[in-house]
Amino acid sequence: MLRLGVNIDHVATIRNARGGPHPDPVRAAIVAALAGADGITAHLREDRRHITDEDIDRLMAAIDLPLNLEMAATEEMLAIALAHRPHAACIVPEKREERTTEGGLDAAGQIDTLRPFVERLKAAGIRVSLFIEPSTAQLDAAIRLGAPVVEFHTGRYAHVAGDERASELKRIADCAALAVKNGIEPHAGHGLTFDNVAPIAAIPQLAELNIGHFLVGEAIFTGLDASIRRMRALMNAARG
Ligand code: PXP
Repeated sequence: MLRLGVNIDHVATIRNARGGPHPDPVRAAIVAALAGADGITAHLREDRRHITDEDIDRLMAAIDLPLNLEMAATEEMLAIALAHRPHAACIVPEKREERTTEGGLDAAGQIDTLRPFVERLKAAGIRVSLFIEPSTAQLDAAIRLGAPVVEFHTGRYAHVAGDERASELKRIADCAALAVKNGIEPHAGHGLTFDNVAPIAAIPQLAELNIGHFLVGEAIFTGLDASIRRMRALMNAARG
């Protein structure tokens, strides 16, 4: 079965716009669990623009679903991950000036820097994932780093159209197959919507999709429960 990880960062973004407690991302995680999410994803950014340290404490206490903590490869984030021991940690690139995680991690260019992070997270029993572009060079780096999971950045797929989208889809599918051949579990995410999720969900090797911004935006119109249930149904339909 293809798992759905619901990223609740943008519930926190709306809350933080006013500085009060509402809307609460932990409540969103509870709704997501009831709506059929298989996991909760949250990105603790260096500037804490969405989830805060306290949110991580509360999420760990309130939800039974596995938590996938997205984190930059920094000593600060490593210490937080090791203190909380979430189910999974997804190492992402992070630039302060970017609006969102604009591209994959350059694992191939940073093998020596990333190795101690991967090793220390793995030693703590945390399932390590690397958020990479769907390329053989990046996948090769993930293999060399011993990452058990990779998440392919689907941002390019989501933002191009026509032949370019078809070739990006093929790149993701080929990399997912290559990952499985090498004993790595492939996930995917970024920019997925009701309109573009089906071809990605149909890639048989993918084990998990992580989806956030669209689900939270759609929740304004239909409610979070309904937006997650519809995404889940589209993913299930794509898998036949
Ligand atoms: N996966 C990872 C690793 C991410 O960093 C993000 C957010 O940038 C997502 C998935 C979800 O992307 P979106 O919010 O566009 O659905």
